Amino acid sequence: MAAAGSAVGLGNIWGFPNQVASNGGAAFLLVYILCCFTVGYPVMVAELAIGRNTKKNPVGAFKALSPGNTIAPLIGMWGVLCGVMIMAFYIVLAGWTFGFIFEQSAGLIGMSDLKGQLSDLSNGHKNAFFSSLFIVLTVWIVSRGVSSGIERAAKTMMPALILLLVFMIGFIISQKGATEGLLLYLRPDLSKINSTLIVSALGQAFFSLSLGMGALITYGSYMDRRQNIPRAAALVTLADLSIAFLAGLLIIPAMYVAQANQVQILDDQGSLISSTGLVFSVLPSLFDSLGWLGTIFGILFFVLLSIAALTSTISLLEVPASYLIDEWGLSRRKAAVGAGTCVGVISIFVAYRPETIGLMVNVFNDFGLPLGGLLICLFLGFFWTSKSALTEIESGRPGSRDGIYGRVWSVCVRYICPTLILVVLCHKFGILAV
Ligand code: PHE
Repeated sequence: MAAAGSAVGLGNIWGFPNQVASNGGAAFLLVYILCCFTVGYPVMVAELAIGRNTKKNPVGAFKALSPGNTIAPLIGMWGVLCGVMIMAFYIVLAGWTFGFIFEQSAGLIGMSDLKGQLSDLSNGHKNAFFSSLFIVLTVWIVSRGVSSGIERAAKTMMPALILLLVFMIGFIISQKGATEGLLLYLRPDLSKINSTLIVSALGQAFFSLSLGMGALITYGSYMDRRQNIPRAAALVTLADLSIAFLAGLLIIPAMYVAQANQVQILDDQGSLISSTGLVFSVLPSLFDSLGWLGTIFGILFFVLLSIAALTSTISLLEVPASYLIDEWGLSRRKAAVGAGTCVGVISIFVAYRPETIGLMVNVFNDFGLPLGGLLICLFLGFFWTSKSALTEIESGRPGSRDGIYGRVWSVCVRYICPTLILVVLCHKFGILAV
C-alpha cells in the first residue's frame, strides 16, 4: 500500500492528462499503457527485489551487491540526485494543490478577492508559502519513520479518489462538448505516434510508477521476505494506471466542455493547449461551474489529491534521507531535516520561477529516470544476475525462479527493457533519427 501511495500522486492527476493533451490524445494513452507493462512493471520488480535483498538505501544496496566496485554505487547516487531535483518541483505542484483547498473554501464563504489570489499560480510568495508548508509536513512524517500511517492513508485515499473521479466523470460526460473530448481520448490516431510522444510516454511511466531513482529500492528494503513481489508490483502498476486513466477521462472531456463554454483550448495548429497549469485551471473552473455543491466536491478533491501528493513526497524524501541515515550515520531526524532543507532551498527558487518546471520535467523525468532504470536493469541482469534476483523473489512466490514467470521476466530485464530505454534515450538526443 505504501508503494501504491508513492506511485499514485500528481503524476497521475497532473502529469498524465497534461501529457495526453500535448501528445495528441489516445495515441499517447496506448503507448503509455505499453510502456507501463513492458518496461515499468519489470523494472518495478527489479527495484523491489534489490531493496528487499540488501535491506539498504539505493547507494548502500549497489555497494552491498558489488563489494569493492566504485562505479555501481553511482547508480544509487544518480537516484538520490534525481529524487532531490524531482522533489524540488513536485513540492511546488503539491503546494498548488494544497492552496486550492483554501481557494475553494474561500469561494464557499464568499471571499472572492482571496479566492482570486489563491488561484494565481505565478504568485511566488504564495507558492513559496504553500510549498514550505508541504515540505515541513513531509519532513515531519519522514523523520518519524515510514510508518503504518502512510499505508492507512493510502488505503483510504485511493478508493475515495477513484469514487470522486468516477462521479466527476459521470457529470462531465453528460455535458455539451464532452463527446469530442472522449473521442480524442479513446480513439487512437496512430499517425500521432512519433519519437517525442514515445520519449514522453516512457518518462511519464517512470515518473508515475516512481521508478528509476530507487524509491522502490528503499521501500523494497522495508518489505518482508514472505511478501509476493510480482503480485505487489502488478497491483501497484494496475492501481496507478487506473487512476491515471480516470484522470484523463475527466480532464480531456472537461477541456472540450470548457470550449463549448467559449474557453479557448486549441492552439493555432489545432492541437490542445497544454501547460504546467492546465489541470489547475480546468478543475477549479469545473468545480466553480457546479455552484456550492461543486465547491464542496472541490474541497474534497483537493484534500484527497494533497494526501496522494503527500504519500509521494514522503517516498521521494525517503530516498535521500535513508541514504544519509545508512551511509553518513545521521539520525533519522537529522537526515530528514537535512534532505528536506536541501530540497526546500531549490524549491523556493522553483516557487518564484514556476516556468522552470517544464525544463526540470524534461531533464529529470524524461531523461533521468529512464537512465536510472536502464542502469538498474543492466546491473541486475548482468552483474548481480537475474538468477540471484529470482532467488530473492522466490521466497515470497515459490516457483518464480524456474518457472515461465522467471524466464520471461529475466528476458525483459536483461534485453527488452534496456533496449527499449536505450532506443528512446538515443531518440531524445537525436542520435537515431527514425
Ligand atoms: N509517482 C509519483 C506520482 O505519480 C511521483 C514520484 C516519482 C514519487 C518518483 C516517487 C519517485 O506522483
